[in-house]
Amino acid sequence: MIIEPRMRGFICLTSHPKGCEQNVKNQIAYIKSKGIIDGAKKVLVIGASTGFGLASRITSAFGSNASTIGVFFEKAPSEGKTASPGWYNSAAFEDEAKKAGLYAKSINGDAFSNEVKQQTLDLIKQDLGQVDLVIYSLASPVRLHPVTGVLHRSTLKPIGGTFTNKTVDFHTGKVSDVSIEPANEDDIENTVTVMGGEDWAMWMKALKDADLLADGAQTIAYSYIGPSLTEAVYRKGTIGRAKDHLEATAFEIADELKSINGRAYVSVNKALVTQASSAIPVIPLYISLLYKIMKEEGIHEGCIEQIQRLYADRLFSGKELPLDDKGRIRIDDWEMRDDVQARIAKLWEEATTENLSEIGDLAGYKQDFLNLFGFGFDGVDYLAEANEMVQVSSIQ
Ligand code: NAI
Repeated sequence: MIIEPRMRGFICLTSHPKGCEQNVKNQIAYIKSKGIIDGAKKVLVIGASTGFGLASRITSAFGSNASTIGVFFEKAPSEGKTASPGWYNSAAFEDEAKKAGLYAKSINGDAFSNEVKQQTLDLIKQDLGQVDLVIYSLASPVRLHPVTGVLHRSTLKPIGGTFTNKTVDFHTGKVSDVSIEPANEDDIENTVTVMGGEDWAMWMKALKDADLLADGAQTIAYSYIGPSLTEAVYRKGTIGRAKDHLEATAFEIADELKSINGRAYVSVNKALVTQASSAIPVIPLYISLLYKIMKEEGIHEGCIEQIQRLYADRLFSGKELPLDDKGRIRIDDWEMRDDVQARIAKLWEEATTENLSEIGDLAGYKQDFLNLFGFGFDGVDYLAEANEMVQVSSIQ
């Protein structure tokens, strides 16, 4: 079938298998261009199909020749209906890994469930014996709690008062004010349950209890801080409470892993266009301005550049790992530079529908958004028939 983008708000209903393949190939080429990192060799990535998790899987495999197991929750294709992009990304990743002689298997299902955890433990035991790196990169709006059976929904709300600020509809470029009503206690609790650290701790406990973590194994989860401009809706909002919880959980996991000389960290990453971030009000406007400035300064990075730097300059640099005063790894350092943030704060005041495409990088935002779904890549013939029924080879 000929596949075109069909946009609905913050999502695109279609995705392009060839474009997703191109996306994965581009990321692999970038990692190969950076040379080999002496990193982990057996890696489990939870949330491995898009965004930072996919970049982590690619960096592990093609940057350190690692065997990888990826867990994700994606929609398989059916006749006439495309899969979700993470499915096609994973299909392409496995094909490229196979060509390179690298072990790669994937599990598609709810990572919050006991069943998927058990399936993953069984696969590690059978194929890898143990893992030495666990990347936790889930971004989900809901979590069915495996113990209570309650379905929790996360929200993106401020805490303590209504928040009004500028935002942009990145499809039309229209800048307008958005008001978000404050969260109640249930919203906060639910968001912490979905996006906080409880599930990460459950994974690590299950892996350790089953003796599937190698001596010295590390685990990393991803967090975000961002500037004061977005803090009401992000870091001081419901999602920020969840990130506080995730960050606190890193210390608990680190304690648990001491007996195997293991370590647990949170890495604070840069704001990027992903399926998760495009749904957060205010953030797309911030990202449009951020991209413009970081590109002008020559310090712009996507997920793959961020994770390559996380591995090469932080985790596996052979030097002492620099941490901030809260024990976190910071690869949002360039985003948070004072000069960058001062320019954004000024542009923020000036931004209007009329001038955003000039003072901000709206085109770059849109391009990245299209790319998430496999559209807008050079070298892909979008007018040609594409086979939507592409399969992930390790998933039967
Ligand atoms: P994403 O939406 O691109 O990726 C989410 C991944 O989680 C996908 O692989 C998806 O299949 C998987 N997933 C979702 N629900 C699942 C479930 N129930 N079971 C199994 N897999 C499931 O998200 P993104 O942006 O890469 O986020 C990953 C982490 O990075 C999150 O913790 C996010 O807060 C953090 N982060 C994101 C930033 C951004 O600007 N996008 C900035 C800094 C941190």
